[in-house]
Amino acid sequence: MEPERTAREKREAAPRQYLMCRPTYFDVTYSINPWMDPNRPTSPQTGLAQWKGLSDTFAALGHDVRLIEPVPGLPDMVFAANGAIVVDGKALVARFRHAQRQGESAAYLEWFGRGGWSAVGQAEYVNEGEGDFLFTGREFLAGTGFRSDPRAHDEVAAFFGRPVISLTLVDPRFYHLDTALAVLGDGEVMYHPAAFSAASRAVLAERFPDAILAEEADAAVFGLNALSDGRNVVLPRQATGLAARLRERGYHPHGADLTELLKAGGSVKCCTLELRR
Ligand code: ARG
Repeated sequence: MEPERTAREKREAAPRQYLMCRPTYFDVTYSINPWMDPNRPTSPQTGLAQWKGLSDTFAALGHDVRLIEPVPGLPDMVFAANGAIVVDGKALVARFRHAQRQGESAAYLEWFGRGGWSAVGQAEYVNEGEGDFLFTGREFLAGTGFRSDPRAHDEVAAFFGRPVISLTLVDPRFYHLDTALAVLGDGEVMYHPAAFSAASRAVLAERFPDAILAEEADAAVFGLNALSDGRNVVLPRQATGLAARLRERGYHPHGADLTELLKAGGSVKCCTLELRR
């Protein structure tokens, strides 16, 4: 058997700790991204059942799911990825671009303030947490163009003492980095080239020559809004093309149905903030 194949079959999962927020008050009452249409009805029951399916999937994969209490009047709070960046036991709480979400920061400051972290701060510049900052294990890939301020990239580098690679998003449907790129582990990523500026596409191609490049159809169902533990990749069930590509590379894809939350422009990764001690 070729050595590469053997390595791929040995992909190992590491148990993770995730922070999630039950979609108790989920709704689409305003529009801050092209997916959100306040005139289209939402179903709280379906949203809750789908979210529960996702948290059950994480638990079945052996991950530790922690919860932050949802706050009435903050319908997007289910998208916990945006609340902070947590690496090396340090937490940098988000500063949201839009007024409708700014109240979420206080809830995260309170949650992280309960202890267990070597440093807790709030970002000075607009910084939408893991929505725009993806940790590769060594450095951050950081998105800008729609939400996080480019100055937040320097702030993150200084706070965590880790390199930050800036990437510019250009398609409003993929307004956060985690809607256009996912870190799979071990220097591997998957992304949608058309979501990035030409300069950022060049950076990605140079840095990740073996990346899985998503087709438009998979990107359009938020297939890149995925979460990997190094072996298992949880991604929207509709992204069948990406699931096949992941299987070829020795990953184990797990489809999750989050169509109700996609009405707000979020899916698997948006619902999940990784807590790295
Ligand atoms: N409606 C939310 C917003 O526009 C969705 C956030 C999705 N989160 C993410 N990590 N991409 O802010």
